[in-house]
Amino acid sequence: MPYDNIRLEIQGGVATLTIERPKALNALNRSTLSELDAALRELAQNEEVRALIITGAGEKAFVAGADISEMAALTTAQARRFAALGHRVMHMIEALSVPSIAAVNGYALGGGCELAMACDLIYASERARFGQPEVGLGVIPGFGGTQRLARLVGRARAMELIFTAEPVDAAKAKEIGLVLEVLPPDKLIEHCRAVAAKIAARGPLAVAQAKRAIVFGVDADLRSANELERQAFAVLFGTEDQREGMRAFLEKRPPVFKSR
Ligand code: CAA
Repeated sequence: MPYDNIRLEIQGGVATLTIERPKALNALNRSTLSELDAALRELAQNEEVRALIITGAGEKAFVAGADISEMAALTTAQARRFAALGHRVMHMIEALSVPSIAAVNGYALGGGCELAMACDLIYASERARFGQPEVGLGVIPGFGGTQRLARLVGRARAMELIFTAEPVDAAKAKEIGLVLEVLPPDKLIEHCRAVAAKIAARGPLAVAQAKRAIVFGVDADLRSANELERQAFAVLFGTEDQREGMRAFLEKRPPVFKSR
């Protein structure tokens, strides 16, 4: 399906979604969010895809936020719908059965930082800048930033970032636990593809169950979360992939997983 503001490429089981709105530093307007919504639905149905990379086109920005020119005149009812659309997209990324990787190549501000945080893993170029500048615009993060940032970096750091509206560079983002690794700009995508390829080579049903246990378990109480893990562990013993993975180990050969 052709898109105007995003690009979706699938190669070797790895999907790459690139946000491409150069005139607004890849800012998320309604039509871009709707395209992301459609692309994520498409990906959720694609059984060949084993991992997703999300990045921004160009050298300057990952995503510079939700589109301010489009938000400027919204009414409360329209703002509610806009936030609902943004939340839906972020939730769809989180709920995808395959892992997602944010390759943050530049500014990840406001909705851009929220998009990165909806991904399972965040890698950043040395040029990246992260921030939630919304209170400087008279609003607050609207695509899950107040919640995901606090869960990722802790309540006080999240408050510092959101209350001051000041961005942090990639090194600081790594120090506070937002980013896993910082890479030279020309090595970022290569690194993310290597991580995605490793994930793609593992048992896809197992990776999906592991993601599910972590994503849904992390916000549950420990007893319920551990129960979720036990069920997911047991379910995998009803799959051909579990038989294959363990047989391959015992026969000292690489496994051939079939997602069955
Ligand atoms: N929305 C709409 N347009 C944007 C944009 C955004 N979030 N960010 C940048 N642009 C546009 C600029 O208006 C500019 O357009 P023109 O050339 O037509 O003037 C173009 O992109 C290039 O930007 P700058 O000239 O500003 O580039 P710069 O290098 O001087 O600055 C920047 C880069 C620091 C990222 C700056 O553009 C900036 O501060 N952008 C806004 C960041 C922001 O506040 N994001 C949060 C939005 S609110 C939000 O996201 C709410 C939510 O949670 C849902």
